[in-house]
Formats: sequence, structure tokens, C-alpha cells
Amino acid sequence: MKIQLSFESKHSSTELHIFSCFNKTKEEKSAKKSKEKDSKAEKVLSHAHWPAELTEAFTHAVASKHYKGDAGENIALTLVNGAAALIVGLGDKNKFTKEVLRRQIANTYKAISNKFEDATIHLDGFLVKGHAEDSIAAMVESLYMTSYTFDRHLSTKKKSKLAQIIIATGEKKSAAKKLETALHHAETIGQCIKVARDFVNEAPNILNSENYAKEIEKDAKNLKHVKLKILGKAEMKKERMGMFLSVNAGSAFEPRLVHLTYTPAKATAKTKHIALVGKGLTFDTGGYSLKPGPSMMNMKFDMAGSATMYAAFRAAVLMQLPVKISCYLGITDNAVSSLATMPDSIVTARNGKTVEILNTDAEGRLVLGDVVNYACDAKPDALIDAATLTGAILVALGSEVCGLFSNNQKLADSLLASAKNADEYMWQLPIIDEHKNDMKAIVADLKNIGGSGNGGSAKGAAFIENFIEPGIAWAHLDIAGVGDSQGHLPYCPAKGASGIVIRTLVDYLKNV
Ligand code: BES
Ligand code: ZN
Ligand code: ZN
Repeated sequence: MKIQLSFESKHSSTELHIFSCFNKTKEEKSAKKSKEKDSKAEKVLSHAHWPAELTEAFTHAVASKHYKGDAGENIALTLVNGAAALIVGLGDKNKFTKEVLRRQIANTYKAISNKFEDATIHLDGFLVKGHAEDSIAAMVESLYMTSYTFDRHLSTKKKSKLAQIIIATGEKKSAAKKLETALHHAETIGQCIKVARDFVNEAPNILNSENYAKEIEKDAKNLKHVKLKILGKAEMKKERMGMFLSVNAGSAFEPRLVHLTYTPAKATAKTKHIALVGKGLTFDTGGYSLKPGPSMMNMKFDMAGSATMYAAFRAAVLMQLPVKISCYLGITDNAVSSLATMPDSIVTARNGKTVEILNTDAEGRLVLGDVVNYACDAKPDALIDAATLTGAILVALGSEVCGLFSNNQKLADSLLASAKNADEYMWQLPIIDEHKNDMKAIVADLKNIGGSGNGGSAKGAAFIENFIEPGIAWAHLDIAGVGDSQGHLPYCPAKGASGIVIRTLVDYLKNV
């Protein structure tokens, strides 16, 4: 699907014109009521931007009194020249936000994508607080996210008809450059979300740790100013990554630590350096602490943290943002075999701490612990990890909210602000000494699960903090909920990888 901006006023060749309509605000309604009792006044909907021809057709269509212009209430009309017009109800103008726009564009896309080959969206009716750049960005992100399908293994693919969308704007031509940039950035984010979703959705027998690293290497070759290093089992042994290696012990495939570095063209001593670390479990059986069948299903998605971080990195590089970014992806599966790590095993982490592995299903923290410690070597200004770390985060926050933990409130606040900007739900949870103490063992320095089953997400975060070097600002994102099926968001597939949190991270990297 091609998306283009247009500054022309006529779009006669378009099959479908998309306009919007707000319903009247309560104040408008009560003001009208006090002036006249005529029920026709209730039907005055806000549509000042429409062409006269459309206003006329619409006036007839609403004569039935049933149309109110509520959010999601759409109406289709035929214009005199034979083109179709779709009027998208956006609801209350005072409650119109980028997120309402994203959701309504998603619903609109679903309604038209199998009927029309091209469509023109008349932007002026979709402006959020009069802001063209933000509105274009929200629209384009939504179109990319909504049109995503994972159909590579289907013999019969459902192809959408819609091949072209024109965003027609009444803005001056002089604004073209910044509007084109907004479009381009949103397309980049949309494409990177697709890359992440494709990785996560791919089957574990096809995308094993070795292939996954190879695919990233292939993709990253096209990125400018990026260096790549991949550590295999031998290199990890040299690095003494005893925790990471213990997770890989039962695997038929080698572990991989993919290390990407982006240095912007005009980097100076003042350029900020951000490290992104991702959990990349291509499959999590639980190991000897085997997951029961229903809980194991879909554990191909246990690599969502790594796909999220790679996607955010990729987007930042394609936008050539003026920030240095190091990206570290800890990749393996958690398999069962005679060589797999047994519960009660004691291993030594990269930083020398010893860990008693009481539950081999709490493997993400073992991989991340060694990888975050490796990432600390470069002394980044901030280190952020993303991981499908705990089922407990779903209990705490539901599947809709990302859990945030941090040792640095400034960093946590920046991430919360970025989540707000990106309209993604994120909530901070604490790291407390009691939880840290609960992760201490009797026969080793640490154990990988807490003593009680409660507070699982916070204790997971408390464990990881043991491997962060002093002075490094660190934040941990538990995406076990948001990384997967987000049925409440019309621009995410009802089933499968969501790509949620990527937009927050890109916003953070833009503003750092
Ligand atoms: N990958 C899982 C976390 C997970 C669970 C993600 C459910 C999505 C849905 C992780 O490796 C895990 O198994 N964690 C355990 C930790 C426990 C043993 C302390 C969990 O959450 O049960
Ligand atoms: Zn696990
Ligand atoms: Zn896991």
C-alpha cells in the first residue's frame, strides 16, 4: 500500500473520498435547545470542511434522524460524479485525540480495504488540535499497523484491494517538507513494527536462535552507520556468561548475543548513548521446570523483547537520529534434553555472582542478567531492557499495560512521558529491598525465583538489578502482556505479536 501526501484541491480520479464528522458537543446542543425547540437543530453536525455537493447529499442521508456522528459511526454516500464518499464519525470534538484517530482510521481501513483500490483521506477534517504533522503520523502508523498480516504459511492469502491512499491537505505547500518528514517517520515506524511482528510470529522450528541472528544480520546490513558483532557459545564462554549458557544447555542450537552499534554521523562527546537490551527466547518450554501444555502454547512469542528492541533501534537508525544506540539481543531457546540445566544447579554470572537455579522456567532473567552486565561495559547514559519476563505482570496490570521498573526516576519519568506521547499504556512498579532480599539464596549469592509466589514481576526486576553496574541508569520493561494479542486495539491483530512499546521507545530516542 502506497501512502502519499497531496496539496491539490481536486482528486477527481479517486474511487473513495474519506471525510469526517464530529457530533455536536453537549454545550452546542444545550445552547441550541434553549434557542429553538425544533428537533431539526439536533441534526446540525460539524462538517464545515466539506464540499457543497457532499453537504447536500449528507443532508438527505441524515434526514432519517438516525445519524449522530458518534465515534465509529460511518456513513457511505455516492457523489454526483459517481465517486463514493465515506463520512467517518469521530465523536466529540473535545475528546478527539491521536489515539481516537488511530482507532477510527483502523476501523475505516478494515471497512474499505476489500472494496476500493484507492482512497483519498481529506486531512482537514481529521486534524487533532489543528496539528497536521501529529495527525498524519497517527494516521499513517495506524494504516501500517492495521494492514499487517502474517500469512506467509497460508496456501491461500487474502489480499487487500487497497493499493493507494492519498492524504489530501489544505496546508500551504511551504509546509510540505515537515509534513513529508512526519509521513516518512511514521512509515518507518510502521515498517519496523512489521519487522518485529514477523520475527515474533514466526514458528520456533523455522526461526531458531541461529537463524534469528542470521536474519538480523542480513537486515542490519542495509542500515547506515551500524556495526554488528555476534557472539556464539565460544565467545560467551570467554565472557563467562554462566547464566545465559545455562539456559542454552539443553538446546540443539547455539546461543547468540547480537550486538549492534549505531553511531550518528555528527556524533560529538556530548552525544547521548543509549543501550537497548532484549530477551530473545525463540521458544520457552520452561526447561526441566516444564510448562504445562496450555501455558507452553504460544511461547514462540518469548522473543518479543528482542524484536521490540531491534525494531526501535532499526527505526532510530533509519531516521538517523542524533543519538548513539547500542542494541544487545540475548537469543536462545529454553529446551529440555539430558544436557538441560537441572533445578538446584548453581551457576556463576558474568559479574561473578553465583546463582542457584531453582526454577528453569525463570530463564529470562538469567539471559538478561548476563547481557545487561555486558551492556554496562560501554557505560551508556541509560540502559533499557524489554522482556516477556513474567506471567505475573498480566495479573498485576492486565494484558493491556506495560510494566516499568527502574533504578533511576528521571529515566522512568522520561519513559512514562514517551509512553503518554505514543498513547501506549505503561505503569511503574517498585523495586524494594525486601524483594531484593527475597532473591538471596542460602547456598549461593542469589536464587532465580522468590521465596513466595507473590510479586513475581517485581522480584524478577529486583533480580536483574544485581547485574547492573553501579551508576548506570537502568529501566526494565516487562512486556509479557502488551507484546502479545491486543484485541482491544483495532490497529493490532486480534491474535499474535502486537509491536506495542516500539512507538514509546522511538519517541524516547527522539527526545533523549
Ligand atoms: N516467558 C515466561 C513469561 C511469560 C509467561 C510470558 C506467560 C507470557 C505469558 C517466563 O520465562 C516465565 O516462565 N516466567 C515464570 C517465572 C516464574 C517461574 C518465577 C512465570 O511467569 O511463571
Ligand atoms: Zn520461562
Ligand atoms: Zn520466558
